[in-house]
Amino acid sequence: MMKSLSTHCGVLAALTLATGVLLTGCKKPDESASGIGKPGEGKAGDLIKVGEFASLTGKEATFGQSSHKGTLLAIEELNAAGGVLGRKFDLITEDTQSKQGESAAVVRKLVSRDKAIAILGEVASGRSLEAAPICQNAKVPMISPSSTNPKVTEVGDFVFRVCFIDPFQGTVMALFAKNTLKAKNVAVLTDAAAPYSVGLATFFKEKFVADGGKISVEQKFSSGDKDFKAQLTAIKAVNPDAIFAPCYYTEAGLIAQQARQLGINLPIFGGDGWEAPELVTIGGKAMDGTFYSTHYSPEDKTEMVQTFVKKFKARWNNEVPDAMAALGYDSALVLADAIKRAGGTDGQKLRDAIAATKDFVGVTGKTTLDDKRNATKPAVIIEVKDGKFVYKETVNP
Ligand code: PHE
Repeated sequence: MMKSLSTHCGVLAALTLATGVLLTGCKKPDESASGIGKPGEGKAGDLIKVGEFASLTGKEATFGQSSHKGTLLAIEELNAAGGVLGRKFDLITEDTQSKQGESAAVVRKLVSRDKAIAILGEVASGRSLEAAPICQNAKVPMISPSSTNPKVTEVGDFVFRVCFIDPFQGTVMALFAKNTLKAKNVAVLTDAAAPYSVGLATFFKEKFVADGGKISVEQKFSSGDKDFKAQLTAIKAVNPDAIFAPCYYTEAGLIAQQARQLGINLPIFGGDGWEAPELVTIGGKAMDGTFYSTHYSPEDKTEMVQTFVKKFKARWNNEVPDAMAALGYDSALVLADAIKRAGGTDGQKLRDAIAATKDFVGVTGKTTLDDKRNATKPAVIIEVKDGKFVYKETVNP
């Protein structure tokens, strides 16, 4: 962890410098009011410290930045409305730099030094998996907005998520391959270094094969690789109907580009890891006719979504919120709602209140947490057309 990034003001100042965009001010909500509370539970007027860890920089920077912008918007709205239980929130954000090892380091700091009462994060499953045992051992509830690998919440009963999981996402894409792409043989290209990718590939294969499809070949690479020609050449040799590449956007863009260079003009499709504007800046024209599944579409006409899109654009320089932003926003609202119901921030009580979340209405639909601390929500399929992300369909669980 870099020293200059060790405080939330530091992170945000660094980001402001790096992106030229002011992510937030470091003004604290006023700390004037005071009241009486149980020891350890904070008094009315005390700030509620919430930790957030996100990949604000590095290879998956748009994941962390989007998620953070959604989370912060929710926190600012909550504070503007007076906070909960008479207390305002102090969001302490740490950058995981898209790097292995950083998530454990920053979450340890958020829990031990900052005494955060709950942790929001991460987007990528691998990084949530790194931090979850720390939260579990400290009995500090952790809510991942958007990590979809089932193992994340299996770490323990203090770990939650507000999104669907990959057995569902894998099923959605297997049905899409069969019914929409009419594919009978699919090649799978997996990032063996990302738990998200390995999991999603497995669940896809299970469903596709169970429904009579064939996996013509499976090829692997490692996060950060830049040359996929060997794998793609092997895929071309078996002549599949489509290629499933459940990885993150940087690799997805390069894969599509190199596939087209090799004369592979098959449909290529992926999962939520593809969601980033960079997918098309990296992949360019090669992305046309590709598809991916995700959690939400800003084109959703419901009032809840349209109001969110309007507020987000007003707050963040006219940017249209993506799925990470929407889930980050919902994760903070679910936490605030649980604090209210728990009547305070005691770890065990807060855990129980989060676990009891039922029909909580957010921008990504209703959140109900099941006995495995996962949510069940619809998936959305997006088609990339002329460099734009076009909403195709919604698939209900
Ligand atoms: N679901 C991905 C993971 O578990 C992260 C992600 C969520 C990416 C939403 C994009 C959009 O790693």
